Amino acid sequence: MSCLTVSDPMLVCSCNYITDKDIQAVINELLDEDCWQLIVPGKVYHAMGKRGRCCGCFPNVVDLIIKTTAEYHAARKTEETKVVNFMERLKLFHEEQKAALAERRQAMLAARRAG
Ligand code: FES
Repeated sequence: MSCLTVSDPMLVCSCNYITDKDIQAVINELLDEDCWQLIVPGKVYHAMGKRGRCCGCFPNVVDLIIKTTAEYHAARKTEETKVVNFMERLKLFHEEQKAALAERRQAMLAARRAG
């Protein structure tokens, strides 16, 4: 019997069969190109030649973007003030995106019930 370990890849997107390790690798590549760019799930999937289908994985991808970006800057000892400001803006942007996604889903469900 084997147990899942911390280093085992975890499936994040079942539509495209993408793991957390795949996503983290792409995020790090994007940060190597420009460490201050705004990374959204669509940009990550585009870099992999994929696209969101049901988009149910996007909230988890957002969490991975925030976590990986924080780890990227911590490993490079980026000036703390810049990182704090950037991470606050990044989290705010992603919270707004999550709220907009939830709103669109509610509207879609309401339209299905009505139709
Ligand atoms: S689970 Fe990722 S697009 Fe559906």
